[in-house]
Amino acid sequence: MSAERARVTVFDTTLRDGEQSPGCSMNHQEKLRLAHQLDRLGVDVIEAGFPIASDGDFEAVKAIAAVVRRPIIAGLARACHPDIERAWEALKHAAHPRIHVFLATSDIHLQYKLRITRDQCVTQARDAVRFAKSLCDDVEFSPEDATRTDPEFLCRVLDAVVEAGATTLNIPDTVGYTVPAEFGELIATIRKRVKGIEKVTISAHCHNDLGMAVANALAAVAAGARQVECTINGIGERAGNASLEEIVMAMRTRPDRYPYETGVATEQIFAASQMLSEITGVAVQPNKAIIGRNAFAHEAGIHQDGMLKNPLTYEIMTPKSVGVPDSKLVLGKHSGRHALGMRCEQLGYQFDRRALDDIYRRFVRLADKIKHVEDHHLLELIRDTHKPAASATPLIEPIPAEQAAAVNVPTPSVPVPEPEPARPFPVVSATNAFGLPLPVHADPHHEQTQQEDYLWGV
Ligand code: KIV
Ligand code: ZN
Repeated sequence: MSAERARVTVFDTTLRDGEQSPGCSMNHQEKLRLAHQLDRLGVDVIEAGFPIASDGDFEAVKAIAAVVRRPIIAGLARACHPDIERAWEALKHAAHPRIHVFLATSDIHLQYKLRITRDQCVTQARDAVRFAKSLCDDVEFSPEDATRTDPEFLCRVLDAVVEAGATTLNIPDTVGYTVPAEFGELIATIRKRVKGIEKVTISAHCHNDLGMAVANALAAVAAGARQVECTINGIGERAGNASLEEIVMAMRTRPDRYPYETGVATEQIFAASQMLSEITGVAVQPNKAIIGRNAFAHEAGIHQDGMLKNPLTYEIMTPKSVGVPDSKLVLGKHSGRHALGMRCEQLGYQFDRRALDDIYRRFVRLADKIKHVEDHHLLELIRDTHKPAASATPLIEPIPAEQAAAVNVPTPSVPVPEPEPARPFPVVSATNAFGLPLPVHADPHHEQTQQEDYLWGV
């Protein structure tokens, strides 16, 4: 199947556009560290910075170009000689250098920002690409604000830069204004109208102002783009860029709709995300797709019950596939007995139905107060329920971690249940969400308990 899939180039701009996010600027060492992780992640292109922007950025691009040798290393430049020369100075020792030249093309940018005419814009773009090409074989051109540019004029600029030697045409939705169908049509128009388009790679660079960056990037790929520009955790100007992890996992999880492959080693995604958050101090929102803290957490009782029986009930990709250590059942007031019993087993306690009922009643009261019941709360609750004399701590007060550790005394090891017989659809998993073998339902009341949980909506 993979032989039939078209290859999409992943151009990571975390170190350039991503760095333009408030609070996300990185120093030289930090950029270098992240560049090594992007290399491990398997991205095809690392846009390492904007060398003319500062001496620090210049040095960082230069250092990355010197030591990160597998991917293409790109540096950004405005469409003018000093920028292009500076970019080349930083990139020239890279194993695979790319100069990325950009110039705005929308009337609003030409008139108010650049104060140049359309004709001047065409000339400037052509000259800049020609100059970049005289230094470096690999030249990317971006018509900034392409999605608000008159398509006729956009094609005119693109004709000129292809003729001047551009090898990649990147189409930026600079202000996150387009929508998937429209962006797909624009890419199709470019493919149809631009002269020499068959010699170049079309790329999509989408911002997330309307929350559609990933959808727009995927629409562009469906329409023939073969490079996507994206960032780890979706960081970038304003609402950010299309998120690398979302694009890549959409292709991996839905090859029926997106029959494309990338060189990304998806198991490195979580590590890259964590490293970026650690470096910038900017946390990822908990419900962020793929790498948010809750992306593989299940709290509702019905979900937890399904997950414990077979993770495929509620998970469309495994945590392992993106490098997340394990999926996590969050114990809260919506959790059911099944999940509670399973967590107790993991903590070394097995209870019969009645004992679990006792704990469950107290657990629900506690969860009502503190929302999420952590392991140390649960241990205290177990101790309090079954050995009242041993505990002086009030039941529904959280206890400190050290105290909790003290109650976690070694207990008889939990007998490992036999795995369930194989199920035919779609993939058989012999283990539950915690990597444990699926339980055998030895308890005659078991099915009834689950049914009760379901009816109670826990
Ligand atoms: O959003 C944008 O237009 C850019 C260009 C420099 C590619 O980041
Ligand atoms: Zn951008």
